Amino acid sequence: MAQAGSPGPARRAQPSVRIAPSILSADFAQLGDEISRVTPEADVLHVDVMDGHFVPNLTIGPPVVTWIRRHCDLYLDCHLMMDNPAKFLGAFREAGADGCSVHVEIGGTAGLIAQMRDLGLDVGLAVNPETPFEDCEPWLDQLDLLLIMTVHPGFGGQMFMSEIVGKIARARHAIDSAGLAVDLEVDGGIDVGTAPIVTEAGARLLVAGSAIFAQPDPVAAAHRIREAAQAALATVSGEGAR
Ligand code: DX5
Ligand code: ZN
Repeated sequence: MAQAGSPGPARRAQPSVRIAPSILSADFAQLGDEISRVTPEADVLHVDVMDGHFVPNLTIGPPVVTWIRRHCDLYLDCHLMMDNPAKFLGAFREAGADGCSVHVEIGGTAGLIAQMRDLGLDVGLAVNPETPFEDCEPWLDQLDLLLIMTVHPGFGGQMFMSEIVGKIARARHAIDSAGLAVDLEVDGGIDVGTAPIVTEAGARLLVAGSAIFAQPDPVAAAHRIREAAQAALATVSGEGAR
């Protein structure tokens, strides 16, 4: 169920950077408390779903999303690192996901986009570091969100891949030149140091897991990332037009 007034990817095109804490780095034994703790600085909650096939790790599925949905009103941005998301999209929607991102590398993108639209989900497409932007470009005008991975998916706490910055800039340029309202999300190794880099390149929704949840004061950590990103945004020329 989409949350009334929620800051979803399709509905927020104002010139600001938004923060999406990734619960992957949270203490799952205290997940509700962990989410409540970051809520004041969270625009979106990023939920990493891993199937053990597309990535060499397993995380959570629709039942956990159901409980998260009952616990909080945040926009739930579900990142499906799965070989076969078609089988589960309905369950994630029913569980309360607001938007889902499927990976372009698995193929079948047209059908997955149609399925997500039919279900009333915001439509996201995720792209791995080694996959060129050209693989996503044909779908751009059908998306609410493009999720550019800045680490290899599967684990939190990895180092940001600076070679992806050019891809972010390319995506920003393509989105702006076509006059699209596609949100541009980055995921992996985002912290107070890398947030300005991705923001200057054009990202507007920043996922951060370990840089928030692995810190002694997660809400303060999220706030510092936001401040760093907003400062960078202020330096980007022509930002008022975005
Ligand atoms: C990695 C996940 C990320 C992860 C990011 O496969 O998609 O969302 O939580 O973690 P950090 O911010 O620690 O790199
Ligand atoms: Zn993710």
